[in-house]
Amino acid sequence: MSNLTQAIRQLQEEFSADTPQLHSIAADFRRDMINGLAGRPSSLAMLPSFLTRPSGQEQGIFLALDFGGTNIRALAVELLGNGSFQIRDRQALPLVDPAGGYNLIADSATAEELFGFLASQLAKLIPSSDIHLLGHTFSFPCRQTSANDAILLYWTKEIKTSGVEGRDIVQLLNTALSQQGLSHIRPVVILNDTVSALIAAAYSDIRTDIGSICGTGHNTCYLEPTPPQGTQPMYINLESGNFDKIPGNIYDIRLDRHSERPGTGRLEKMCSGRYIGELVRLVILGLMERDLIWGGRVPAFFAAANILSGEDLALFLSDATPRLERIAAWLNSRDPAAGHTLADRSLFKTVASLVVTRSARLAAVTYTAALRHMDPDMSQPHTIAIDGSLYEKMPGYAQTIHTTLGDLLGEKSGLVRCRLAKDGSGVGAAVAAAICGSFQSADPAFSG
Ligand code: BGC
Repeated sequence: MSNLTQAIRQLQEEFSADTPQLHSIAADFRRDMINGLAGRPSSLAMLPSFLTRPSGQEQGIFLALDFGGTNIRALAVELLGNGSFQIRDRQALPLVDPAGGYNLIADSATAEELFGFLASQLAKLIPSSDIHLLGHTFSFPCRQTSANDAILLYWTKEIKTSGVEGRDIVQLLNTALSQQGLSHIRPVVILNDTVSALIAAAYSDIRTDIGSICGTGHNTCYLEPTPPQGTQPMYINLESGNFDKIPGNIYDIRLDRHSERPGTGRLEKMCSGRYIGELVRLVILGLMERDLIWGGRVPAFFAAANILSGEDLALFLSDATPRLERIAAWLNSRDPAAGHTLADRSLFKTVASLVVTRSARLAAVTYTAALRHMDPDMSQPHTIAIDGSLYEKMPGYAQTIHTTLGDLLGEKSGLVRCRLAKDGSGVGAAVAAAICGSFQSADPAFSG
């Protein structure tokens, strides 16, 4: 066996887990759910949302602010009842100016600058000074004591804006809105993007009880039948990206060591679009250093961290040409003198496939654990709403989740449906605003 074949075999072992191993990870995950709910030590924060199922009959026009990463979106959504909706208007803007003018997610930016920018984007959607209720999807771990307060525990996805951790996001946004004379925009609910995805899907499908994001970040929430915070079922944000009872390999360890918050976000660093490109780069770099690819040369462009994105991996995986010409074009555009062979190119595809498959399988493990927690005998139908670029666009991703659910749940997997919750962050925030706004308008102080 050649050294390269041997190296690939080893990688296959390092990146794969058989079904019994996945069952055992699911059991550990479920144990962490139970411990987290009971307030015992756990890698799962089990953050309450103070939100429960929508009726599907919510109606009206609501604003939604979606802040989850390097781009923000502001939407006006019309809810039509019977589970249907229409997006009336939308603004999307990067928080990092591609021309280098501003960077609101660097540690040099302040909370006031960031929230001032968010408020100014909302202003663009509002033609009048009528009162508008706003749902805010904020896709980071927050501790809540009601549906409309949220202390940011810590940033994830390598965001570093100063002075936001430990503060109430609702207050920061309210202050920015009133400073810009926008007090007619009334934030009435703040929710994680997993909860938004779930609510958006539950608006039309009452069986939806898991919401998940497989995109830049990774996380899942579910409907807890008996939450410690109340008597009604409640959506609980697992912050599953922080799950840590999962063996990592040397590439996972290297990636973690150079990340913004080493030692945290173990599952997210194995699963999410923010990190899987870098994992692929680290594996290929290892092969280069061992002289097994590209004649042992490390092209200059490949030496820098984070040069591979989730979209790049999608391109590698979708290249079905006999000589992998799309991968060749990608490599040539980065380094015209690289002089790669078909074997080199095919290694890019193999490594991408290993990393992406592991990501999808691990996501399915966490869904299995949440399903078993809600419905130990698996006697009910369940819908899992998933949003995010990996689920939507990565070749083979959705299929691998489906097959892995089959491996883990056997014939009971027939009761589980996964569906894309596209635009979930906007629509879910609007539905949540409709639910919470109707409580608040009963309050005379709110009637404006
Ligand atoms: C955050 C989660 C979020 C997920 C998906 C993670 O980095 O911690 O709160 O749901 O990304 O956006």
